[in-house]
Amino acid sequence: MTFPKDFLWGGATAANQLEGGYLEGGKGLSDADVCTGGSHTQSKRITPVLEPDTFYPSHDAIDHYHRYQEDIALFAEMGFKVYRFSIAWTRIFPTGEELEPNEAGLQFYEDLIDECLKHGIEPLVTISHYEMPYALTEKYNGWSDRKVIDLYINYCQAIFTRFKGKVKRWLTFNEINCGAMPLGNLLGLGIINEGTTDFMNQVDVPQRRFQALHHQFIASSLAVQLGHQIDSDNQIGCMIAYMMSYPLTPNPADVLENQKVMQISNYLCGDVQVRGSYPTFAKRYFAEHGIEIDKAPGDDAILAAGKVDFYTFSYYMTLCQTTDVTAKSGGNLMGGAKNPYLQSSDWGWQIDPTGLRIALNEIYDRYQIPLMVVENGLGAYDKLEDDGSIIDDYRIDYLKQHIEAMHEAVLDGVDLIGYTSWGCIDLVSASTGEMAKRYGFIYVEKYDDGSGDFSRHQKKSFNWYKQVIASNGEDLSHD
Ligand code: BG6
Repeated sequence: MTFPKDFLWGGATAANQLEGGYLEGGKGLSDADVCTGGSHTQSKRITPVLEPDTFYPSHDAIDHYHRYQEDIALFAEMGFKVYRFSIAWTRIFPTGEELEPNEAGLQFYEDLIDECLKHGIEPLVTISHYEMPYALTEKYNGWSDRKVIDLYINYCQAIFTRFKGKVKRWLTFNEINCGAMPLGNLLGLGIINEGTTDFMNQVDVPQRRFQALHHQFIASSLAVQLGHQIDSDNQIGCMIAYMMSYPLTPNPADVLENQKVMQISNYLCGDVQVRGSYPTFAKRYFAEHGIEIDKAPGDDAILAAGKVDFYTFSYYMTLCQTTDVTAKSGGNLMGGAKNPYLQSSDWGWQIDPTGLRIALNEIYDRYQIPLMVVENGLGAYDKLEDDGSIIDDYRIDYLKQHIEAMHEAVLDGVDLIGYTSWGCIDLVSASTGEMAKRYGFIYVEKYDDGSGDFSRHQKKSFNWYKQVIASNGEDLSHD
């Protein structure tokens, strides 16, 4: 037994992290466009007014907006079956409130989709990936206002209609569960609370954040229903940042702590989107945190009628949970304690391929709908040698071990339909705003001081991934 015959191998990106062209073709300013560069040790800043001498990585990113044909040709050379990318809401509705969609934006994505189809690559579209029109943040404080649901649905209507027949698989919100954590305020929900200036330390109002998340649940459910109405072939999925954690010790207090963290950070959103209602544990969590969700009449029915068709998730690392507050470690969304059995990346992310097998089994046991890993990979410092080569054996090792873990999960009986590794071409880091944290099979000459000519180079992992895809995951060998 091996990977299923039609297994969807490919790569994933997000518009704000690779396109650039931030005001071209009528595009409006997005939340990502007001975030400065940063680093592992220095947080990005959020600047309500753009500062003239400041570097904003999303403004040029890796210039995919002008180079998408070259990039897609490289993906095709690796044999991609699927390419996951996001549509920038601000290319279609620059401020989110226009009555008609922006034709230049629609045309850009139609050309990009056609380019994929020309190469036999299926497009998998994330409708909203860590950006919303900045105008909606300014006017409504993002998703905290229910009005944004209608605006999002208008946007869905425009893209479902235009790309009908060409795109069949959609994801409503990237890592929707980041809204269950303080870092998700701006990132996922478009909220800037008074006093927030710093991306890593945002002012948090849990009541507002969970109300905004509720609005996203409703928007997602309505989008599922609309997508099915417009084209019954549409498959619409959720996307969860699966933040696996273990109890730090067998102390029942740590086991319970871990269960609580897993419930709120992972299962709350998955349960609503897959099962169509809030899980029972949410009730106590909300009560204990003084959160009251204001539901409109009919919201429960909307959630029940808009269950997703498949479940997708990102997986990078794992953490441990404990009631001992002195034990800490990090990820980009959530904290936890260090696991003494695991090694970490240069950014402190603990590498855990076995955790992926555990996650796949847990999720499939819970939901029993098709699963897809839509982000996974190693952010690392790469070195471009004088002869143009990049020897990234560490990345090959990471990916190999995670693909082996997926294979084991398939043997365990999990219905896994595909895998898109994150940042298949180097792009801007979502958490730090750096280019130095590279994930790609393709190196891009673009650096954190803004220099670089955007030229593309194949890394050693490029040919390795090509061989993995050609053998449908059988041949993971490398020298
Ligand atoms: C996920 C996001 O959280 O992780 C991506 O969906 C992001 O947008 C990826 O880029 C990797 O995180 P980072 O912070 O290393 O870019």
